[in-house]
Amino acid sequence: MCARYGHVARLRGGFFGLQKDALYITDPLALHSILVRDQRVFEESTEFRGLFGIIHHGEHTATAYGAAHKRLRRVLNPIFTAAFVSKLSPIFYKIGFQLRDRLAGMLQNGPAEATNIDMLDLLTRTALELISQGGLGHSFNSFEEDSKEFDTFHEALTTVLPMGGRLFLVFPFLNGWRKMKPAWLRGFLSATVRYIPWPSARRFKWAVDTMHPVCKRLFMDKKRLIAQGSISELEKTVSGGKDLSSLLIARNFEIDDADRMDDEMVIATMSSIVLGGQETTAGALSRLLCLMAERPDLQRRLREELNTAQSGKEDDEELDYYELDKLPLLDGICREALRVFAPVTFVWRETYEDSVVPLQFPIRDPATGAETRELLITKGTPVYIGMGAANRSTTIWGADAAELKPERWMEKSIDESTPNGVKMPGIYSNIMTFLGGGRACPGMKFAILEIKLVLSILIPAFEFISCPEEIDWRLGITVGPYVKGKEEAGPSVPLMVKKIGGQ
Ligand code: HEM
Repeated sequence: MCARYGHVARLRGGFFGLQKDALYITDPLALHSILVRDQRVFEESTEFRGLFGIIHHGEHTATAYGAAHKRLRRVLNPIFTAAFVSKLSPIFYKIGFQLRDRLAGMLQNGPAEATNIDMLDLLTRTALELISQGGLGHSFNSFEEDSKEFDTFHEALTTVLPMGGRLFLVFPFLNGWRKMKPAWLRGFLSATVRYIPWPSARRFKWAVDTMHPVCKRLFMDKKRLIAQGSISELEKTVSGGKDLSSLLIARNFEIDDADRMDDEMVIATMSSIVLGGQETTAGALSRLLCLMAERPDLQRRLREELNTAQSGKEDDEELDYYELDKLPLLDGICREALRVFAPVTFVWRETYEDSVVPLQFPIRDPATGAETRELLITKGTPVYIGMGAANRSTTIWGADAAELKPERWMEKSIDESTPNGVKMPGIYSNIMTFLGGGRACPGMKFAILEIKLVLSILIPAFEFISCPEEIDWRLGITVGPYVKGKEEAGPSVPLMVKKIGGQ
């Protein structure tokens, strides 16, 4: 994208052909202005605020902007710190071992022969369990073959964004619709969606109506538990009170009235945490295993690093959050995989007032032909932040930008990761994958722990080998893997898997 169109591109008619011309921006200095310096000017688009407001049944971080968004993040950010996330390691290990045992049970062949396994299915179950136990303090029993609760919730979770994406024709009306009064009329009209001849809208409504009651029930259960005693009653949940929603509910009790979220907001936030954390992580983990399969040399080196680290521990002792974080090759591989293959490739912003942003890489003014290092973005212009494209720009990362090179990060400071010391405004590792500024992903540390911990369990136990099938990673609101020629079968990631050392 950057090589062909530069770091600022104009999209005629916007992304969906229905809007004012949009800008697709990957320039580092412009991104800094849009995401950090002038965040109040470039807020979440009205279209996405409407879509996510409907998905999560209410106000939460994706629907709020300006001071209201800042207030919500003040409540949310402290529960995502390393101090809290690191306490989730024992829960994550328990789930990681369930994954390992389930995979081992599926390998009928002896150690010399590999079995073809859809790793996406297993990693999806894992990611849902990690986010539901770590995020909601609830288990969907995702590893049980006939867990109806898993099947239904998971189907809703993986349906809602692809179907939501197909509703782009009505995107401009969604934010107005969800605030329509009287509420009973909105409720009545929304019930009629079940009967309209638009399958995507019907599926979307089913998914939304399936997710919301689950989050509401889990919240009400916690509230009832607190009413029976005190906040410490939350320790009786599956996570021992360490999950994000228990922390959120507890924090919401403690803070000033002005900042406190109402019940509907807490429920919508719980729902946004599950949706935000499930598909992204399942996709990232599947991609990482595919990369390991394509690069047996790297897979072998990673296995050696993990085995050496584990050999320094007692038999029943696991590597903790901080130990996992310090393993250089594991770290370099994660950073590179998340750089080259960002699970969310772009986000959409709306320009609330005219603004001039500086450019790191000059562009030509189309009117005069003169080179300029400034860009005037007029009010109302849709702006797309191209995280995936910025992460792969050869101008920023060098000629080998598209290659997976963990060495890019090893024994180097973050500033040395780009050949010319270009500084990106992302919150993670000089890359844009988790975005930057006040709307950056709060779940970044949670996601990195999940990814590193699952790899630390799988790579020493199994060998992953590529299949002949070609996987097409399709761009939606997130990126989804489909086997070429078998797209109608839905997303999947087939890999050949072998047990290591005849376990
Ligand atoms: C590899 C995994 C992940 C990636 C690539 C990712 C990426 C992102 C990005 C790009 C955004 C900004 C969206 C926007 O501004 O429109 C975001 C927001 C968000 N993410 Fe993540 N995320 C990941 C994992 C997680 C996890 C595990 C959680 C929860 C535990 C989470 C929770 C959230 C929430 C709540 C927001 C909304 C923040 C706001 O609106 O202020 N994410 N994420």
